[in-house]
Amino acid sequence: MRPSSRLDRLPPYLFAELERKVSAKRAAGVDVISLGIGDPDTPTPAPVVEALAASAREPGTHRYPSNRGRPELREAFARFYERRFGVTLDPDAEIVPALGAKECVFNLNLAFLDPGDAALAADPGYPVYTGGPLLTGGEPVLMPLLPERGFAPDLEAVAPADLERARLMYLNYPNNPTGAVAPDGLFEQAVALAREHGLLVVHDASYTETTFEGYVAPSFLETPGAREVGVEVFSLSKGWNMTGWRTAALVGNAEAVEAYWKLKTNVDSGIFEAVQLAAVEALDAGPPMEMRDLYQRRRDLVCGALAEIGVEVTPPRGTIYVWAPVPEGHTSASYCELVLDESGVVLSPGGAYGPNGEGFFRISLTVSDERLSEAVERLRSSLGG
Ligand SMILES: Cc1ncc(COP(=O)(O)O)c(C=O)c1O
Repeated sequence: MRPSSRLDRLPPYLFAELERKVSAKRAAGVDVISLGIGDPDTPTPAPVVEALAASAREPGTHRYPSNRGRPELREAFARFYERRFGVTLDPDAEIVPALGAKECVFNLNLAFLDPGDAALAADPGYPVYTGGPLLTGGEPVLMPLLPERGFAPDLEAVAPADLERARLMYLNYPNNPTGAVAPDGLFEQAVALAREHGLLVVHDASYTETTFEGYVAPSFLETPGAREVGVEVFSLSKGWNMTGWRTAALVGNAEAVEAYWKLKTNVDSGIFEAVQLAAVEALDAGPPMEMRDLYQRRRDLVCGALAEIGVEVTPPRGTIYVWAPVPEGHTSASYCELVLDESGVVLSPGGAYGPNGEGFFRISLTVSDERLSEAVERLRSSLGG
């Protein structure tokens, strides 16, 4: 047996060593608290679960779904975009449901990259923006996200040769892993660059519904001209505590939506229709707003504890993560290993999100208040001195 050479193009999996150590600790009886993965610990809103149960009892939902999505679901996405962002979308031409943002982002690479084409991807960033191009024969071109620029890419610094071969540009605000929100003017600049170079801008809106202190995250599609050059990936995973439901949509530029749909008809068979109908309930009810208070409280707990052990961070205004610099003398991997050894707490090493993530670590706020308080206590007592 010989796996394809495309798998060799993937970078080494930087979480592997950490995962091995976590397993060894657990086997040795250590009560490990993982602040690694961003997977909401709170249940999906009950009416959504009830809508699923009711729809699942209808045999009409049991057959192959249409992978254009049920009209009810596309219409519900359109209603949500109108109400939430003031963006009017045509449910027939500008919306296609996706099996989560991850599937959507990956398949956009297949739909838009030919061998040798490039995708502009944030560094640090969600790994599929780089893994996707590598697996589909394209090439990721990294756009550094630096603290001094508020973790926004410097679009003027992208090399002309890279712009020449770029077909896609990934943006993601509120941003994983840095927690940054989109600075004024970034989306406008992206539209101008995309027009000039024939790029498709893909804005990953996975965290627009998890924001704090009254900050309201915009849709990229609110930007004048965005729909001519861009699409947005909107997911129910984080905002509605629905990561396991695999429900999202690609919305925006009709030509891009059509190309993605054409590809998908050959790849998957859409979302279980009972899940689609439950998602209508979710979208119409809106995201559970109390999650914002919950994450904000947890964010403040974590930022306060980090300050006490000498790690200064700016509290993020969005996402479910705190992004913090590792103390002097450590790499992100060595610091995460030290914290695991000393306190049994798992952090994500920033280097796993790209070269410019080195020197940082990420804390996810998706464990119960009780476990998070325990983790914070352990950090204070084992690293405080
Ligand atoms: C930026 C970003 N995009 C996409 C995803 C995946 O979302 P989904 O569950 O909709 O596939 C994540 C998950 O962590 C993410 O951080």
